Amino acid sequence: MPHVIDHPLATHALTHLRDKTTNPATFRTLSYQVGLLLALEATRDLPTKGKAIETPLEAITSPVLDQGLVVVPILRAGLGMLQPYTDLFPAVSVGYVGLERDHETAKARSYYCKLPPLVNRRVLCVDPMLATGGSAVQALNVLRERGAKDLRLVTIVSAPEGVAKIESHHPDVPIITASIDRELNEQSYILPGLGDFGDRLYGT
Ligand code: PRP
Ligand code: URA
Repeated sequence: MPHVIDHPLATHALTHLRDKTTNPATFRTLSYQVGLLLALEATRDLPTKGKAIETPLEAITSPVLDQGLVVVPILRAGLGMLQPYTDLFPAVSVGYVGLERDHETAKARSYYCKLPPLVNRRVLCVDPMLATGGSAVQALNVLRERGAKDLRLVTIVSAPEGVAKIESHHPDVPIITASIDRELNEQSYILPGLGDFGDRLYGT
């Protein structure tokens, strides 16, 4: 089962993301806020190692992060969730997978892929919307082929249909999300959802 973050700021921000009167500038700020809470949750168990340092008073061994982190936003809506990672983890590497759903069939078409080394690193695939799951499965397939083993999917809104698809194609990939919504409509949009995330993020 996905891990649904439980924080009042996340539910508050998500309500305003869902509101159709929210303008793109506010939408971007809210995406950052939910994305930040999700980023903290997705990295909660990053390994650490002891580092010898000296405080002004004495020598101690104290933990520092001990695993490379890669974040891979699925273009273009995933870009709305990227900045929390670059703010929190200055050493993060960023990869990009470009996928676009066909408006008639809802099948995702790949148009771009640029990835850093993924082996022995925590890889977080981020995309705000998990609808049919077709885009996320394609992206996770590519990340696996490139050697990612410690892999997670981070989303803002997830449909039960998309969750089921990930669980059947990538049962070992944890999903961290802010909401599991009711269902998909006939056009494969999430209900109640928030509409087309990319369009609302970029005012298109
Ligand atoms: C949206 C969203 C996901 C995908 C989810 O992207 O950001 O990538 O749809 O749908 P799925 O689970 O049915 O595959 P879209 O294709 O609209 O492209 P965009 O990010 O460029 O707007
Ligand atoms: N992509 C979106 O942006 N919204 C949906 O509801 C489904 C896919």
